[in-house]
Amino acid sequence: MNEATFQPRSLLVTGGAGFIGANFIRHVLDTHAPTRVINLDVLTYAGNLENLAEYRDHPRHVFVKGDIADFALVSRLLDEHAIDGVVHFAAESHVDRSIVGPAIFVQTNVAGTLSLLHAAKEYCARRTTRSDGFRFLQVGTDEVYGSLGATGFFTERTPLDPHSPYSSSKAAADHLVSAYFHTFGLPTLITRCSNNYGPYQFPEKMIPLMINNARHDKPLPVYGDGLNVRDWLYVIDHCTALWGVLTRGQIGNVYNIGGNNEKTNLEVVRSILKAIGKPESLITYVKDRPGHDRRYAIDAKRIMSELGWKPSVTFEQGLARTIEWYMAQQAWLDRVTSGAYKNYYSSMYENR
Ligand code: NAD
Ligand code: TYD
Repeated sequence: MNEATFQPRSLLVTGGAGFIGANFIRHVLDTHAPTRVINLDVLTYAGNLENLAEYRDHPRHVFVKGDIADFALVSRLLDEHAIDGVVHFAAESHVDRSIVGPAIFVQTNVAGTLSLLHAAKEYCARRTTRSDGFRFLQVGTDEVYGSLGATGFFTERTPLDPHSPYSSSKAAADHLVSAYFHTFGLPTLITRCSNNYGPYQFPEKMIPLMINNARHDKPLPVYGDGLNVRDWLYVIDHCTALWGVLTRGQIGNVYNIGGNNEKTNLEVVRSILKAIGKPESLITYVKDRPGHDRRYAIDAKRIMSELGWKPSVTFEQGLARTIEWYMAQQAWLDRVTSGAYKNYYSSMYENR
């Protein structure tokens, strides 16, 4: 197992008001003092600062509303805060939206990532400290590998074969990160994680959507035959893996992250209904998603053996915690579904 080689003092976290970014910031502020976090998020529909409400005035957290594609802003933040690590979550992240409108996925995930990489490269060139004290971590997805049949796993050597506009844009971003490593020597790391679930996930994604519909006795829309398989990981376990890769990963490497929790969508939906005490008659089969990937499964041996990482909870434990969280946080869910969360920034951050 690699010993810690890098202890970041000041991280630029992009997309920190989204689902995984917010969980990551909470995790870092709670468990990794003295690391400071500069949270850059443009607050699209998916950005919700209520996810970080208790951390608004945290002494090691600074929120900046802005776009990763704003080269001047990013360059200023890198300099002003003497950033020594970028953890890049900001993205358009929903496959269904990418089918309806792919252009913003290319703008954010490809052009935005390129601009961020370039700002990081220029920053490293003008830094007085050596650039090996810097890391750029690209938070990627297993969806770049495409779809599996009934057997097999994605390893870090599996060729990229993305099928949706979302996964294609993420694959392009990964290639650009790799290009900045090989061409310019930017110290980069890439992770590719399976489907996450847990607190603060926007209820357009399968698990929170099904929990929300079940609590309102609304139909649960299952695409196709419901037998597509996803390899689920509790979001906090993703966060501990990212910290491990950031601080102990080998520069230039890719690390797959997964929980070895393959479930069909129907299995997941049935578990949710059972936990909430709602009938299976709420399950409604709807038209399949075009190009719907059949199965994802991650081989996470590299991160487990090199970095000693492993998930802390089983799927059953993580799902129980998640359902408990959503049932206890119905006000959060109601403000998201009503759109009221969009006023949070102006009421809590502007004119402070
Ligand atoms: P999310 O959609 O919940 O959050 C994305 C965040 O990025 C939002 O807060 C949004 O406001 C922000 N953002 C979007 N465009 C921006 C821009 N131009 N500048 C600054 N901020 C911008 O996404 P998530 O589920 O938290 O995923 C985070 C990252 O992890 C993504 O890169 C995604 O591809 C990757 N990932 C997600 C999963 C998953 O299951 N959710 C799995 C593996 C990898
Ligand atoms: P999703 O949460 O959108 O993640 P991804 O497409 O990135 O894997 O979907 C997870 C699975 O659930 C996927 O196979 C599509 C399916 N799904 C439904 O069956 N119904 C739904 O309403 C949604 C949003 C997803």
